[in-house]
Amino acid sequence: MPKIGNIELPEFPLLLAPMEDVSDPPFRALCKEQGADVVYTEFISSEGLIRDAAKSVMKLDIYEKERPVGIQIFGANLDSMLKSVEIVEASNPDIIDINFGCPVKKVVSKGAGAGILKDIDLMVSLTKAMVEHTRLPVTVKTRLGWDQESIKIVEVAERLQDVGCAAISIHGRTRVQMYKGEADWNPIAEVKNNPRMHIPVFGNGDVDSPEAAKRMRDEYGLDGAMIGRASIGYPWFFNEVKHYLATDTHLDPPTMEQRVDAARRHLQMAIDWKGEKLGVFETRRHYTNYFKGIPNFKELRMKMVTSDDAADVFEAFDQALEQFSDYEFARV
Ligand SMILES: Cc1cc2nc3c(=O)[nH]c(=O)nc-3n(C[C@H](O)[C@H](O)[C@H](O)COP(=O)(O)O)c2cc1C
Repeated sequence: MPKIGNIELPEFPLLLAPMEDVSDPPFRALCKEQGADVVYTEFISSEGLIRDAAKSVMKLDIYEKERPVGIQIFGANLDSMLKSVEIVEASNPDIIDINFGCPVKKVVSKGAGAGILKDIDLMVSLTKAMVEHTRLPVTVKTRLGWDQESIKIVEVAERLQDVGCAAISIHGRTRVQMYKGEADWNPIAEVKNNPRMHIPVFGNGDVDSPEAAKRMRDEYGLDGAMIGRASIGYPWFFNEVKHYLATDTHLDPPTMEQRVDAARRHLQMAIDWKGEKLGVFETRRHYTNYFKGIPNFKELRMKMVTSDDAADVFEAFDQALEQFSDYEFARV
């Protein structure tokens, strides 16, 4: 069974991917309830943390019920990364993850995120210094390479392992691809097939159905799947994948009642955590998926995603349940 440091995981664990403005404590808690084996925070700026930027510090909050949880940080300056490790440790996560994959210009232009794929020596030395600076397991999330011509992920992963990285999650795209095209899992399988590799190698990118997860396990031989977009507004995805991997049959999709219950709890946790205004605002992006496919739902959806008042959103959930309690959802 794969392990991250001393954290024992089940066979072919499912990891919730770090996602900015998505992977916050309420959403992570729902994913954990629904079968995620490891959850990650969204990326947090090391520079923000060491300047005590309130927004960055708030991202360090974790609930006991979501463990094991990894806090993901990004940056390219060794000093700031090491100082931020100390701050991160104070929130007592189970894992520290380094983001070497973010393709966004404002991150890359500072040499952070996927920007570091242009300087593999720095990527390795930064990882080494972080590993030496913390008692927690350090994992890395990265992409295949900067561009198609410079893919050296087999060598890079081995070097990261050799400096103490505890597990690696690889998104099967290059920086240049951003999110375009299809994720290519072949180079990730090459990393896994390297006989020198002994840390878990998790695949990421386009695991959007139970069948895709099964292919990643059976055809590509990876140690687990990291799941991002398919879980947005659909935390049930984790259990659906697990059920399919274990039985080759599909779980029924959640009923309207289960969806409304999740949406209510999601919103309530977000309000308790961030206050009404931000709680209402930041859960909006999930509702479209919670209630996907229902015909004539536009009015209620609009109420859910445009109201600033939590009472209105809760009322829309009640109305959704009243009006569509028998709706039969299609499977993903
Ligand atoms: C809204 C959004 C925010 C993201 N934020 C992060 C992030 O903070 N850190 C990170 O490493 N990757 C981030 N990613 C990338 C995902 O973790 C993941 O690598 C990517 O979405 C591919 O996986 P998927 O096909 O399962 O979604 C983000 C992706 C999305 C869609």
